[in-house]
Amino acid sequence: MTDRETHKTHARRAERARDFIVLTLGGAGLMTLLVISGSLGFVEGLTAALVLFAGALAYFVGSVPPVVSDATSVGAKPATGSRDPSIRSLIHALPFPAFYISEESRIQYSNRHLDEIFRIKHVEGALKSVIIRQPDVLAATDRVARTGASERVEFMAVDGEELWLAHLTSGPAPHSVFVVFEDRTAVHRAERARADFLANASHELRTPLTALAGFIETMRGPARDDRESWDGFLEIMHNQTDRMRHLVSDLLSLSRIEFSEHRPPDTVIDLSDVLSHTILALQPLAAERAIELSLSGLDQKVPVTANWDEIAQVVQNLVGNALKYSPKGETVSVSMGVSPSMAEAATSATANQSRSISAVLLQPRASSEAAAAWINVADSGQGIARQHLARLGERFYRADESRGGEIEGTGLGLAIVKHIMARHRGGLAVASREGEGATFGIWLPRVETETKTPTASVNG
Ligand SMILES: Nc1ncnc2c1ncn2[C@@H]1O[C@H](COP(=O)(O)OP(=O)(O)O)[C@@H](O)[C@H]1O
Ligand SMILES: [Mg+2]
Repeated sequence: MTDRETHKTHARRAERARDFIVLTLGGAGLMTLLVISGSLGFVEGLTAALVLFAGALAYFVGSVPPVVSDATSVGAKPATGSRDPSIRSLIHALPFPAFYISEESRIQYSNRHLDEIFRIKHVEGALKSVIIRQPDVLAATDRVARTGASERVEFMAVDGEELWLAHLTSGPAPHSVFVVFEDRTAVHRAERARADFLANASHELRTPLTALAGFIETMRGPARDDRESWDGFLEIMHNQTDRMRHLVSDLLSLSRIEFSEHRPPDTVIDLSDVLSHTILALQPLAAERAIELSLSGLDQKVPVTANWDEIAQVVQNLVGNALKYSPKGETVSVSMGVSPSMAEAATSATANQSRSISAVLLQPRASSEAAAAWINVADSGQGIARQHLARLGERFYRADESRGGEIEGTGLGLAIVKHIMARHRGGLAVASREGEGATFGIWLPRVETETKTPTASVNG
């Protein structure tokens, strides 16, 4: 913008210089001809040539604007309004984009944050209409300059990616305006996510409720006297209430974990202890589905700074899924181990499926050099198609929903796992290939003990 203006000034200067030379030479030539032909005396000719030259010079000097050397403020004459260093310091001290519009509708002071919205580095001295490209904001600056009443205007910036709020107030000089910008993008996104979540949760709750209401109607109406059919109805109603209970308990877990996510756990527990206890509680479920639960690596103590109940919930969800999404009679393998670093633990957590595609669902916040522990849960069930992998862990996201969702679930289990692992500064990853089973892994920093034995201990 400013470069173009400088360029234009130069071009105009060259054009005038050409006019000047043509006029001077043309005039001198004409005078010489007239003097030679004798129609004009030498003195008269010289006088006329001088007058012509003076005229051409005046035209040249008077019509060319000076070239401004400071390219940053070109396109804009410096504001002539009174300079007020305190306003300037104020604008510069603000931690967010702001500027001050002088009484001549120019941007008199601005700060470096302005670049975030307008993508222009130097705006001081420019006309406000050149800089502000949002018609609503521009119109508001006019109104505030005229009436002095403060205004707030919301607008989209950076190709519609960000939502900003402009706060406009009148300044000390007549018709001057302060404009301060507030980034509302994060708030806007959070509001939308909350609205989506509420819509999803209500929808999920309404489905079983509608079914229940329907059966109650049937039992009170058409099937009132058909006691034989009631058993079937009651069975379905029981399942629906179960589903609702699961959903509500998952929702409560999720909100409880989110609430404490920024407070890291402070108790040291033994990871293998949690794992073996939780697996024991899952045995009946495995037996019901004739699935063998194979365990390995649980013979060593692995101290971690963690919350027992939350880690138990992680194991319950991952092993519960493996049991649920495996065909009857298969095996689910749960293994645990330690690694010298988080980076290596990440690999072990989803190892043992060489041909699969993997996705990290949660990057750990702990340093990748920290000593770590990992848990790996592998099944040989239906697996998960590639396009779903990265989205697992989003609330209510279910990969098999398209298949009619023949297996009951809320789609909240992995979201809970993800939040718990985030609180523990750990990671979550999945590796799978459709039809070839799935492996889910978690890893987290472990407490290094002085007397740690590097090799697995042998039970005596
Ligand atoms: N072991 C697994 N094998 C195949 N698919 C799985 C496995 N674990 C999770 N999934 C997929 O991930 C989705 C989300 O899991 P989750 O959050 O636990 O919800 P839910 O189990 O309630 O459906 C499931 O609906 C399923 O499609
Ligand atoms: Mg689940």
